[in-house]
Amino acid sequence: MENALNLDTVVLSENGEAVVILDQTLLPGKTEYLTLDKAEDIWEAIYKLRVRGAPAIGVAGAYGYYVLARQFDTENMEEFVAKCTKMMEYLNSSRPTAVNLSWALNRMHAVLLNEKDGKTVAEMKERLKKEANDIREEDIQISRSIGAYGFELLEKLGRGVGIMTHCNAGTLATAKYGTALAPVYIALEHGWDPKEDLHVYCDETRPLLQGARLSAYEMQAAGVDTYVQCDNMASYTMKSGRIGIIFVGCDRVAANGDFANKIGTSGVAIIAKHYGIPFYVCAPSSTIDMTMETGEEIHIEQRKPEEVTEMWYKERMAPEGVGVVNPAFDVTDHSLVTGIITEKGIAYEPFKESFEKMGIKPVTKYVDK
Ligand code: MRU
Repeated sequence: MENALNLDTVVLSENGEAVVILDQTLLPGKTEYLTLDKAEDIWEAIYKLRVRGAPAIGVAGAYGYYVLARQFDTENMEEFVAKCTKMMEYLNSSRPTAVNLSWALNRMHAVLLNEKDGKTVAEMKERLKKEANDIREEDIQISRSIGAYGFELLEKLGRGVGIMTHCNAGTLATAKYGTALAPVYIALEHGWDPKEDLHVYCDETRPLLQGARLSAYEMQAAGVDTYVQCDNMASYTMKSGRIGIIFVGCDRVAANGDFANKIGTSGVAIIAKHYGIPFYVCAPSSTIDMTMETGEEIHIEQRKPEEVTEMWYKERMAPEGVGVVNPAFDVTDHSLVTGIITEKGIAYEPFKESFEKMGIKPVTKYVDK
């Protein structure tokens, strides 16, 4: 089984003309890459979760922006800007909850608006390519740094620790290393024994099974002692005393520390509080949306009913015509969160003050002058 750290989730093609993504809907059975250079295909890949995980979606958005911008056949800067604006708004409509997509698109667009004066369209295209590459490179560094802070917590708990996670916030969800699973990769680098020192419990994560298909695959491929459990088994495992810490990723954090992550996360947090198990959220600072005071403001993506009633089953499992609830994310209250691990350090209550001390500012819209 290929170590997932060796797989590139999102890169620019060698000729620089397309976004290359690992198709995560086929994992763990098949490792296949898609080469995308059309707006509709990039949009579809994000919507259908072929590329997924908040930071990876951000990187895909940045490369998508560049790849599409380079195709605009005009020397006229105003026209180029108008086309880019329309294109970024289209890409941004693919998935609403993770802030990273709009953050990355806005960052690309801000570069265009702030630096276009005195440049040709061709020069601007080169500049946008560099920005997209920078976003990817930075994501790798950020994930490593989150991993290092998370590893400090593991060291305090000691070798042999049981870690629970929900959904997939591993290397597949980022440019490399992941957020919630990065501490595990860093522990392995520090010589921790994958079978004796680390035991990772992955919630399967209904309905799209990112835990069973992706986290379990990543951890097993890294040699780690790995378990999959149905989502409704989390309380059983926590009660059994096997879990020392919980790490989850997130898609958007509000200023007060409320955060959105894959549906089911809030239940895990509530149970963890009951059993007194530390519950940490792993978040690149770009996921912290200081424009939102509380999680009430986070827009939750609703997805198709078939994901619940039919997908993965040999035949439909729910009666025809039944109502279906299928929110892709839920919001966990900040009172359930022990700490939020960012690349700048670990934030604690009161989270807003903690974020401000770290220098985290509201997401810039389009222009930053
Ligand atoms: O719908 P998905 O698979 O994109 O949801 C992913 C999650 O909820 C992750 O936990 C989150 O994006 C953080 S990834 C580092």
